[in-house]
Amino acid sequence: MALLELRDITKAYGAGAQRVDALRGVSMAVEAGEMVSLVGPSGSGKSTLLAIIGGLLTPSSGEMLVGGRDVTRLTARERSRYRRDQVGFVFQASNLVPFLTARENLLLVGEFGGADRAALRERADNLLRELGLTEAAGQPGNRLSGGQRQRVAIARALMRNPSLILVDEPTASLDTKRGAQVVEALRDEVHGRHKACLMVTHDLEMAARADRIFEIRDGLLHPHEAVA
Ligand SMILES: Nc1ncnc2c1ncn2[C@@H]1O[C@H](COP(=O)(O)OP(=O)(O)OP(=O)(O)O)[C@@H](O)[C@H]1O
Ligand SMILES: [Mg+2]
Repeated sequence: MALLELRDITKAYGAGAQRVDALRGVSMAVEAGEMVSLVGPSGSGKSTLLAIIGGLLTPSSGEMLVGGRDVTRLTARERSRYRRDQVGFVFQASNLVPFLTARENLLLVGEFGGADRAALRERADNLLRELGLTEAAGQPGNRLSGGQRQRVAIARALMRNPSLILVDEPTASLDTKRGAQVVEALRDEVHGRHKACLMVTHDLEMAARADRIFEIRDGLLHPHEAVA
């Protein structure tokens, strides 16, 4: 069974003359341990799709199964629990707390889970190590480079051990080499920890580092041939 399955998902914003059909019937399945990239022109529906998968928006129609459970029919309360427990987001603006160190940024999100402090710290340090951030662990957020910040954001998204990692333009502000390092680190985590990951990017070179590439055009999904 796929970890994530979308069945004919649509999303319309607004109504009447203002109506925008952002998604017009998207179906896909993503397995645990699989990283998928999403490319497509501006306005094609990429962020809308991520927001729906992450439980930030509800679709207009269609079904979305996560671990076999239809999460489009959750109550508001169940949906916020789904977001908290199953989803890790990484956005382009990595939004670290600048005054806290890399490690403290991780502990901040970990704390809500009720795990004890020593276990959280161990988890944070493991993730920081895996992402090549051991040296940076004690540095405040505003002293980290762009690539380090993005990797801290990935580590932070993994702190609560979500099954889905959703990433919107993680490398947009990085040069090719640092961008590639960030995507490699993410891919290793996704494969090693059996997460399902969807990464939106404009960069086909980055996209090609995923296991599969999809392209969205006008709210419809198409498989994309890698330009290796
Ligand atoms: N809150 C909203 N209200 C109305 N229309 C919206 C809203 N959010 C997005 N849209 C429209 O839905 C369509 C898809 O937008 P979306 O942000 O998902 O595209 P995108 O592929 O992420 O674009 P980009 O590459 O620029 O980030 C666009 O036409 C956009 O203008
Ligand atoms: Mg977008």
